[in-house]
Amino acid sequence: MKAFVVREYSHHSKIPVTADHPEPKPAGSDDVLVDVHSAGLNFFDILSTQGKYQMKPPFPFVLGSEFAGTIARDAPLPPGCPFQPGQRVFGSALGAYGERVVASVKNIHPLPDSLTFDEGAGLYVTWPTSYEALVGRAQLKAGEWLLVTAAAGGVGIAAVQIGKALGAKVIAACSPSKLDIPAKYGGADHVVDYTKPNWQQEVLKLTGGRGVDVVYDPVGKIKETIKCIVWGGRALVVGFAGGEIEKLPLNLVLLKNISVIGIFWGSYLQHYPERTVSVWEELIALLSSGRVKPVVYTETYTLDTLVRGLDDLEKRKTWGKAIVRIREPKEKAKL
Ligand SMILES: NC(=O)c1ccc[n+]([C@@H]2O[C@H](COP(=O)([O-])OP(=O)(O)OC[C@H]3O[C@@H](n4cnc5c(N)ncnc54)[C@H](OP(=O)(O)O)[C@@H]3O)[C@@H](O)[C@H]2O)c1
Repeated sequence: MKAFVVREYSHHSKIPVTADHPEPKPAGSDDVLVDVHSAGLNFFDILSTQGKYQMKPPFPFVLGSEFAGTIARDAPLPPGCPFQPGQRVFGSALGAYGERVVASVKNIHPLPDSLTFDEGAGLYVTWPTSYEALVGRAQLKAGEWLLVTAAAGGVGIAAVQIGKALGAKVIAACSPSKLDIPAKYGGADHVVDYTKPNWQQEVLKLTGGRGVDVVYDPVGKIKETIKCIVWGGRALVVGFAGGEIEKLPLNLVLLKNISVIGIFWGSYLQHYPERTVSVWEELIALLSSGRVKPVVYTETYTLDTLVRGLDDLEKRKTWGKAIVRIREPKEKAKL
């Protein structure tokens, strides 16, 4: 099969596409074979090819870890498998940048009819992270002010949409080239350029001098946002896309009576598996209702142009979720 195979650590730009990599075979007791239609690009893919990511699979390995596709029709299903051959699914497994991938049943979900394979390919990590952050951790309420940083990015644009669906007033912050994205694709009420000095003043002005109730931060800008959070506000630590693990002077937390709240969705299956079930139930209902919709970056890559896609991600050019189309869909999503 055609796949993006890493045989030794190097920058992705030096890796050619392999035309004849052996197909993976289900080996575990709950493994299924999936025909991959689309796969989501992630920054950690760029780190993985260079051996700079915490997970280091043995060589050779097929890159990619989020996908949408169909259950293969020509492979056995494990006993009690809840999926049917040909069923549309999305999920996570190492090897998503290949025509076929083996995934554990517990890491895949039925793809809602309303979503295309491209929209489903980048769902598995970003959407439950933003949903659980806002609903389970910060307990965002209708009418509250929410500030989202990197609001045009993968988790950010999902947080903007979920915030709006919860009835919050959403201020999106991002870099100047992406200022039109959070309102156009997320429904943000206001957008600010967080590369400007004193950008927090604009947020204070928008909230009548009061400040926001909740901050959702995947960049490492909690310290900056404390200048525009309300007394008693909640600040969600989601990630460090800026490249450095942020350090926070705790006197600022004390003086403003703030709750700093961590969210690591990847640890929920181990520590709080029952919550993953309810998050997915609620999220799939929300996605199926059409009130929220995954945002796919305008340029769709293929396995032959994947290197350019990873370059664009590395250079911070993409917004929403960048997708690689592995095969053209034969069946159209019901819209
Ligand atoms: N806690 C969790 O469970 C969890 C789950 C998923 C992801 N994450 C983390 O959340 C962060 C964002 O993930 P994502 O999928 O949304 O990524 P993404 O789609 O690549 O978006 C990241 C955004 O961060 C902004 N950014 C600011 N400084 C940057 C820099 N120096 N280099 C690159 N981007 C920079 C960029 O927006 P502007 O150009 O507008 O500044 C970029 O669009 C990552 O650190 C990821 O590891 C955490």
